[in-house]
Amino acid sequence: MKFLQIEEALKKKGKVSVRGWVYRIRKLKNNIFIVLRDSTDIIQCVVKDPKLVKIADELLMESSLEIEGKIYAEKRAPTGYEIEVSKLNVVHAAEDFPIGKDQSPEFLLDQRHLYIRSRKMTAIMKIRSTIFGAIHEFYRSKGFYEFQSPILVPGGAEEGPTMFEVKYFNKKMFLAQTWQLYAEAAMFGLEKIYCISPSFRAEKSKTSRHLTEYWHAEMEVAWLNLDGLMDYAEELIKFILKKVIKENKKEFMILGRDIKKLEPSLKKKFPRITYTEALKLLEKKKGMKVKWGKDLRTIEEEKIMELYDTIVFVTHYPKEEMAFYKPKDPNNPKVAMCFDALGPEGVGELIGGSERDEDLDELIKSLKSKGEDIKDYHYYLDTRKYGSIPHAGFGLGVERIVRWICGLDSVKDAIGFPRTMIRWNP
Ligand code: 4AD
Ligand code: MG
Repeated sequence: MKFLQIEEALKKKGKVSVRGWVYRIRKLKNNIFIVLRDSTDIIQCVVKDPKLVKIADELLMESSLEIEGKIYAEKRAPTGYEIEVSKLNVVHAAEDFPIGKDQSPEFLLDQRHLYIRSRKMTAIMKIRSTIFGAIHEFYRSKGFYEFQSPILVPGGAEEGPTMFEVKYFNKKMFLAQTWQLYAEAAMFGLEKIYCISPSFRAEKSKTSRHLTEYWHAEMEVAWLNLDGLMDYAEELIKFILKKVIKENKKEFMILGRDIKKLEPSLKKKFPRITYTEALKLLEKKKGMKVKWGKDLRTIEEEKIMELYDTIVFVTHYPKEEMAFYKPKDPNNPKVAMCFDALGPEGVGELIGGSERDEDLDELIKSLKSKGEDIKDYHYYLDTRKYGSIPHAGFGLGVERIVRWICGLDSVKDAIGFPRTMIRWNP
């Protein structure tokens, strides 16, 4: 038999051979209806031949099969066609599949190694794959080089308390939270660089936004300022949206995701408001008073996002709350030259980025004020001694954008095998 993928078979007439897994099976007295699934689609197959009915009658969900038969239009079938089975080869008769209808999210996470083959997870993983491809395509089309940094790092970058320690022979090392500090060093040679790599955060929060291991798409560019940086972020997101809307219509249907929700971010310019303006909006439009100087919490971000149907950039956060490398605004030393991109529909921060401080003394002062050991940063500080230039970069949480695009309840469904404080298995 020469096998066709189900998607191809659906376009054929006459005899076809397909193979895949039993997605659904309905056993009637003389006929058995099997809905067969492969990576491309599903198709209903009807078994009428008494000899084959006897074989099919033994089958359970997820058994793997090879089927040959005549294909014809059948309105009542889920994808509009049906195969009348003339040959049936059982490749593997499955045991009783543990996953049925209406199971709890926690149970599905326990069974992720099996649930990963569900239509929902398959649709999400296809959209995720489009997004990874789009990120590479976007940066490469703009003349960026892909640059990789180490995962095992000697010290901090974002926040000390959220670093995972690793025993490294007799020494203590950490899993990288970001590619950034090494990227800044590499920027002096390559000027425009990006990467997509795992980042690690020992987050104690059990939220719908936090993973302990997530995929981080970062970029770093020489001679770039904050406005130029946000232009890149906006263009990247619009590029990703255009790709998924073009390539993943079927997957959005399977997920029941209304892509109209994504369209404003594709068509409109993203508003850019400062942190200080955001606080004013919170007070005026949401009756929420936030003390100036505090970082925005989830609840405040959610209220801001309610005011927009697109992604919104919030810029110029209080300098003291920010990572050491974010420089002061020359016009207002209380705020930093940075931004967060907040997603619509309550998904929260999708991107964080900033200009990078070029001033060696400021960097040292900032590190010390955060209780960091300057020795751990010698290589980073060195970069500011030899032809330091203005530069900027950002990091996008890939699961967060997958979550938003797919309309998922949690980032846990945006990755094959999620890692959180309370979930490390399977
Ligand atoms: O805002 P963050 O911490 O920024 C950085 O790490 C910078 N060094 C990036 C850079 O400028 N190169 O993280 C960047 C993004 C966040 O906006 C968020 O989308 C995602 O990474 N992120 C997480 N995603 C899932 N789980 C977590 N625990 C995350 N922490 C951050
Ligand atoms: Mg951030």
